[in-house]
Amino acid sequence: MKWTKLILLCLLSLSAVAEDGRVLVELPPMMREHMLHNMRDHLETLRGIVARLGQADYEGAAELAEGRLGMSAMQAHGAAHMAPFMPEGMRQAGTAMHHAASRFAQAARDAEVRGDPATALRALADVMAQCTACHAGYRLQ
Ligand code: HEC
Repeated sequence: MKWTKLILLCLLSLSAVAEDGRVLVELPPMMREHMLHNMRDHLETLRGIVARLGQADYEGAAELAEGRLGMSAMQAHGAAHMAPFMPEGMRQAGTAMHHAASRFAQAARDAEVRGDPATALRALADVMAQCTACHAGYRLQ
């Protein structure tokens, strides 16, 4: 009975390792904290963007996206400082996310002119695709 349980546990933990193929990126502790802090801010920013789109406040959504996620936010987030610690693929996903957020800001302003949120929502999905792509490939702990 004991052995069966042990073998079962081993098999379970093996499958957990096999399923998680993400690359571990080891950052100095302060930098990891800083990055996770940015991440929580990213999620809060997405919430704010969706809330503004829901109120048809396209300009507000555009400003939030550009200032907190877009190319303007890259420097504020210390991207250049952290980039040397990241594998190339991770760096590219980060840059692609900042670009996608700036494209979203433009799409939101266009949507306001046309009175149609569809293009803005598609551009927002492109931003979120960069979040999930990076999350699928990398972990910090
Ligand atoms: C360049 C890569 C990359 C991009 C782009 C990215 N993330 Fe992350 N994110 C990570 C990594 C790595 C972790 C840590 C995951 C782990 O260790 O399990 C993380 C963790 C998080 C966490 C958990 C924070 C915590 O305190 O544990 C949240 C929330 C998050 N990301 C949201 C987002 C959102 C929202 C976006 C897009 C707007 C985004 N991330 C874009 C790499 C990225």
